[in-house]
Amino acid sequence: MVRGYTMKITAMNRRTFLEQSAAAGAALTLAGVVRPGLAAAAPPAKAKDRVRVGVIGCGSVSGAYLPHLSKCPYAELVSTCDIIPERAQQRAEQFKIANHYPHIEKMLAGSEFDLLVNLTDMQEHEHLNREAIAAGKHIWSEKPIANTLAAGQKILEQAKAKGVRIWGAPVVVSSPQFSLMAKTLAAGTLGRIASAHADYGHTGPTWSSFFYEKGGGSMPDLGVYSLTTLTGLLGPARSVVAMVSIVTPTRTIDRKGEIKVTEEDNAMVLLDHGNGVLSHVQCGFNFFNPHGHVGTKEARHTITIYGSRASMGLVGYDWEPLGVDLATEDKPEFERLATDSDGYVWQQGASLICECLATGKEPLFTPEHALHVVDIIVAARQSQQTGRRIEMSSTFKWPIVT
Ligand SMILES: NC(=O)c1ccc[n+]([C@@H]2O[C@H](COP(=O)([O-])OP(=O)(O)OC[C@H]3O[C@@H](n4cnc5c(N)ncnc54)[C@H](O)[C@@H]3O)[C@@H](O)[C@H]2O)c1
Repeated sequence: MVRGYTMKITAMNRRTFLEQSAAAGAALTLAGVVRPGLAAAAPPAKAKDRVRVGVIGCGSVSGAYLPHLSKCPYAELVSTCDIIPERAQQRAEQFKIANHYPHIEKMLAGSEFDLLVNLTDMQEHEHLNREAIAAGKHIWSEKPIANTLAAGQKILEQAKAKGVRIWGAPVVVSSPQFSLMAKTLAAGTLGRIASAHADYGHTGPTWSSFFYEKGGGSMPDLGVYSLTTLTGLLGPARSVVAMVSIVTPTRTIDRKGEIKVTEEDNAMVLLDHGNGVLSHVQCGFNFFNPHGHVGTKEARHTITIYGSRASMGLVGYDWEPLGVDLATEDKPEFERLATDSDGYVWQQGASLICECLATGKEPLFTPEHALHVVDIIVAARQSQQTGRRIEMSSTFKWPIVT
């Protein structure tokens, strides 16, 4: 049984839904919101109701996505693709997927599918997403969807014109802990909200160089989670001030040897959310962490929010949250809340999108929010280069949880 599926399958099957999306502009035809894990799992969909999935990028993260997708009652895994063909072949064999390809063009010309799950290098997402949309595919993309706001907005327009949808990681706003924090803020429990802090770091991946090269960096890989959570809780950023740096100028990468680091591996970003509310995100690839990449062992508050009458701390990381601590004027000892994950896992994004495409429900995360975070990252780099505060033009539908 896959936890995290909340809805009964509607009478509308996948084909009908995809056709209606194309005809009416998908966003307008959808109703309801996916809240993972609030109810028991739905029974498996019939094969014809499943969304046919092609996975591109068969490296590290595919090892987390594919087990989840292979158990998703709304997904049918059709093909894999990697420019390292043996990786595509190995994942296809491991998960009993019928087709594997060495290039996106061959994948798009090969066995039919509906949703591209893009798990490639950060620098590859933008052009692969564009190519797949041009071929009429829906997209689930690891972060970022695109490398700039302008490029991302063009992709959204292209998707609309084609009658397909695109969404991107992270899915942190889908967790029950995010929901509890958002509702606590909306209820006014914190009094006058003043400031927030988030931090996420480790000593960096060793398996691929793209994390350290132009278009990579610690902000789109790590800070992206905190930026999504803080803008999700406190509202879109109105302006950004940042300092970023390269602390480790060269790195040794598995099977590749020494590389030059050309994108920031250390970042301090200040956000102005309006009405006097300020927040700070700290991220980097030089943070010694006794737990390394293992989220379940992180027991600190990695996100704290302060108000005049209460403060809140997220226990663990927003991508793998373990609870929320709340201290108020009336109950000044921290009380631990929302300790149940309720089926939420960080690697569920592509499966949730299959559920949405199959049932017509909407996820809580939006491409506009993902692009607002891309815009913040670009602004943070601009702030470092110019020494100036950067005004933001992008925004997204907020509040997310009411
Ligand atoms: N590794 C993780 O734990 C993790 C967790 C969350 C998110 N992510 C994100 O997932 C994405 C991938 O990260 P990863 O760690 O799996 O990297 P990785 O290097 O292990 O895997 C990327 C794979 O994509 C393939 N690839 C690159 N360009 C391609 C192209 N044009 N066509 C087809 N295949 C191509 C590479 O050959 C490689 O096998 C990144 O955006 C990263 O930020 C990774």
